[in-house]
Amino acid sequence: MELLLLPVLLAVFACALGGLYLLGAFRRRRPGEPPLDKGLVPWLGHVLEFRRDTAKFLQRMKEKHGDIFTVQMGGFYFTFLMDPMSFGAIVKEARGKLDFSKFAMQLVKRVFGYVSIKDEHKFLQSSSNKHLMGDGLVVMTQAMMPNLQNLMLHSIGQADGQKTWKEDGLFNYCYSIVFRAGYFVEKAKEIDRVASEKLFYEFRKYDKLFPNLAYGVLPPREKMEAERLKRLFWNKLSVENINKRENISGWIWDQQQFEEEKGMEKYMQDRHMFLLLWASQGNTGPAAFWLLLYLMKHPEAMSAIQKEVDQLLMANGQAVKPGGPLINLTRDMLLHTPVLDSAVEETLRLTAAPVLTRAVVENMTLKMADGREYKLRQGDRVSLFPYTAVQLDPEVHPDPLTFKYDRFLTPEGTRKTDFYKDGKKLKYYSMPWGAGVSICPGRFFAVNELKQFVFLMLAYFEFELKDPKEEVPSINTKRWGFGTMQPTRDVQFRYKLRF
Ligand code: HEM
Ligand SMILES: *[C@@H]1O[C@H](CO)[C@@H](O)[C@H](O)[C@H]1NC(C)=O
Ligand SMILES: *[C@@H]1O[C@H](CO)[C@@H](O)[C@H](O)[C@H]1NC(C)=O
Ligand SMILES: *[C@@H]1O[C@H](CO)[C@@H](O)[C@H](O)[C@H]1NC(C)=O
Repeated sequence: MELLLLPVLLAVFACALGGLYLLGAFRRRRPGEPPLDKGLVPWLGHVLEFRRDTAKFLQRMKEKHGDIFTVQMGGFYFTFLMDPMSFGAIVKEARGKLDFSKFAMQLVKRVFGYVSIKDEHKFLQSSSNKHLMGDGLVVMTQAMMPNLQNLMLHSIGQADGQKTWKEDGLFNYCYSIVFRAGYFVEKAKEIDRVASEKLFYEFRKYDKLFPNLAYGVLPPREKMEAERLKRLFWNKLSVENINKRENISGWIWDQQQFEEEKGMEKYMQDRHMFLLLWASQGNTGPAAFWLLLYLMKHPEAMSAIQKEVDQLLMANGQAVKPGGPLINLTRDMLLHTPVLDSAVEETLRLTAAPVLTRAVVENMTLKMADGREYKLRQGDRVSLFPYTAVQLDPEVHPDPLTFKYDRFLTPEGTRKTDFYKDGKKLKYYSMPWGAGVSICPGRFFAVNELKQFVFLMLAYFEFELKDPKEEVPSINTKRWGFGTMQPTRDVQFRYKLRF
């Protein structure tokens, strides 16, 4: 009897020990490591608080531990670096030590069911360089122009020359138009208009599920809905369907060619298309909402940019007239809008809040700008949250919660890039696009798209809040970490033709 019991007892003991180990009970801060905060719940650690409101949680941790600390979340240990002077140490570290793709690939698999292939990230970067920057942008700008104007002018009933107010939710209006204009980089015909509106509606459903999907905590019913939506988009964006469209963008085309050559399965290609749709259309619309809202709340900003728009049109011999030709806003014109540029940068400072994460591939030492050194453990993760660390730092950006349209303008009216902390010039003073290997490859296109939309709004329309006393809605705290933030509610506004 006893002989039998002993192995059983030993096994139970070993299991308990193993369990405790997995739960992180034995992890201790070692000499030279950042402060360790495991939280009260085994294994989960701080993940619930992090998910509820990332910005608030990290602010609390920063006040408790200083500008570097390690927290336990869902069985992983994340070291957060909150000192912007030291960001370069993470952003520029070699891939052999800090790896971006491992973490990103897990997320992408969970959310989009997509498994990437070798060299794909490199290819995405080079095709983005070709199509979403430089000369490629000239083509893209031209392709977007008729789409935007079609969608914007269609809804106003411009044909009968009436100048009556139209009312809409600002978030819905901006997101819908920017999404549909970007999705159909081809002529937005009547049938597309209706079809794309339906598609936008479905996209928004997925968009709303996204944060919980990313954290893997969707309840069963919503999980089924997410599955349905994914399938719908895989089908809509499938290689066969997309090739029927007469004029898909070179960016998408090249991507498909690459995957075809590498022998990727068709169904996997479809999944990648949806991922690219989400990455390219999920952030710009919400950013356009914030920008227009800030302009309506800050008349001095609105009139400064209005002036810039009107002068630029005049300088290019264009004018908006009833029944006159459409505006031909070129890439070249969009390179001469310093005031609008500053307002865009300011909007992104206030509303773009990604978490940048890297996996620690081998034990390493992190050197901070002030000379301190910290050991990072293999298997852990390192993260930056520039929103709290720098974008809202009152020392870097005085009065940080206030929208100042000229914050990124020098007294001479050029782009301002000098921002200081502790008397030292900062390289990373705002990071809406991330940085390093994973920096958003669509950033130039995104800014261009945003500027096209806002420029046209100001050129064609007069617009105002339905209730002038309307407060700027707060940011939905569930989305921290995923690009551009969304508001907790929509805001009603009205618009009509200026001329
Ligand atoms: C205001 C608009 C936008 C913002 C704030 C934004 C921001 C970001 C951020 C923060 C990342 C991830 C960085 C990281 O993980 O470290 C990202 C990735 C990405 N973005 Fe954007 N983005 C915007 C618009 C766009 C547009 C218009 C496109 C394409 C036309 C685009 C394409 C992508 C792609 C493909 C990735 C994944 C890159 C990779 O795998 O390395 N984005 N974006
Ligand atoms: C659309 O097609 C036209 C001619 O077929 C071509 O010149 C143009 O570059 C295409 N646009 C895009 C964005 O591919
Ligand atoms: C807009 O202007 C550019 C450059 O001047 C020109 O190449 C293009 O054809 C024009 N587009 C339209 C629709 O007039
Ligand atoms: C990394 O460091 C930890 C202790 O900090 C040690 O236990 C582990 O063996 C090291 N790994 C390698 C590969 O050196």
